[in-house]
Amino acid sequence: MKKPEMRSCLDKIKPYVPGKPVEEVERELGLKNVIKMASNENPLGPSLRAVEAMRSNLKKMHIYPDGNCYYLKEALAAKLDLKTDQLIFGNGSDEILSFLTLDYINQGDEAVMVKPSFSEYDFAMRLMGGTPRQVPLVGPDFSYDFEAILEAVNEKTRLVFICSPNNPTGSIVKKKDLDSFIERLPDNVLLVLDQAYIEYVDNEDHPTGLDYVEQGMPVILLRTFSKIYGLAGLRIGYGIAPAEIIGELNRVREPFNVNAMAQVAALGALKDNYHLERSRKLVGESRKQFVEGLSEMGLKPVPDQANFCFIDLKVDSREVFKAMLQKGVIVRTGDIFGFPTYIRVTYGTEEQNKRFLAALKEVLADLK
Ligand SMILES: Cc1ncc(COP(=O)(O)O)c(C=O)c1O
Repeated sequence: MKKPEMRSCLDKIKPYVPGKPVEEVERELGLKNVIKMASNENPLGPSLRAVEAMRSNLKKMHIYPDGNCYYLKEALAAKLDLKTDQLIFGNGSDEILSFLTLDYINQGDEAVMVKPSFSEYDFAMRLMGGTPRQVPLVGPDFSYDFEAILEAVNEKTRLVFICSPNNPTGSIVKKKDLDSFIERLPDNVLLVLDQAYIEYVDNEDHPTGLDYVEQGMPVILLRTFSKIYGLAGLRIGYGIAPAEIIGELNRVREPFNVNAMAQVAALGALKDNYHLERSRKLVGESRKQFVEGLSEMGLKPVPDQANFCFIDLKVDSREVFKAMLQKGVIVRTGDIFGFPTYIRVTYGTEEQNKRFLAALKEVLADLK
């Protein structure tokens, strides 16, 4: 076929393979009651206040959304004690990752990130012809090795991605470690602190990062309504950074990047502390349920502060994935993160967790 040649920097990008949708698995395998524990969604669903807000705005969908997310920005700024010019919203926090590389990455520029971590950092870098540099997490708890990260930073580095809690390991950074890391970062490097799961953290040593923004440091915090707020289907996330950085990100933002339904739902969700607390409590209980259930199988998850855990099964996780699918449980295999014997599992309701544990026990027994 005659066509323009694709940009060469895209050669290394493979289309993203998402967790399998429930409906697809049910259709393909002729199953009912399939559960998806693969995409770190909230099993309790969205807040009822978000649902109510969407319902009462249904008849306004012929109007373009507010490109500035005015009401949402006001509400979030008040909640976090920030100025509205320190906030930017995206079509998911994924979109803000793209803004970052559009703004700051020229061909050949580098970004440092850890391995394993969220795949979109690599993707956003490659999209602009940038080079991702991966530094391994260390030890059985997948801890951050800040000395090694600093060693990977060089004169070409523009961005450093720190994900805490980290996807897929659930491990976190400590505030004092991050404080001294930032001090040692060169001036022309922007620290991207991805906090998609921060609402689940109960460790008091974890950094909020808000003080860095307040002090005008070159830092952006990324958060989302997809996880604890249960609004993944609507696509809305946000960035918190000094106003100068937000101004630069706004240059590459489409005028109506966040849809109107997402804006009203997020505003409703922000008002619902009950839903937030319930979701947080469920994750704490699930973590306990998993640790107990897995220990009966001689397994130990990586200690996490998120709504999922990463488990080394010591066998090929793609085999486990296929067998679990037959039992109507969708999990995520570790090979996509470079850890083929691990699975990543999103905590579900108590009942779903039980089903997962029972299915895993059977599957592992069959594979041995
Ligand atoms: C660490 C991390 N960052 C960002 C995202 C993207 O979230 P959003 O749905 O807001 O694009 C995810 C989603 O899985 C994630 O795990």
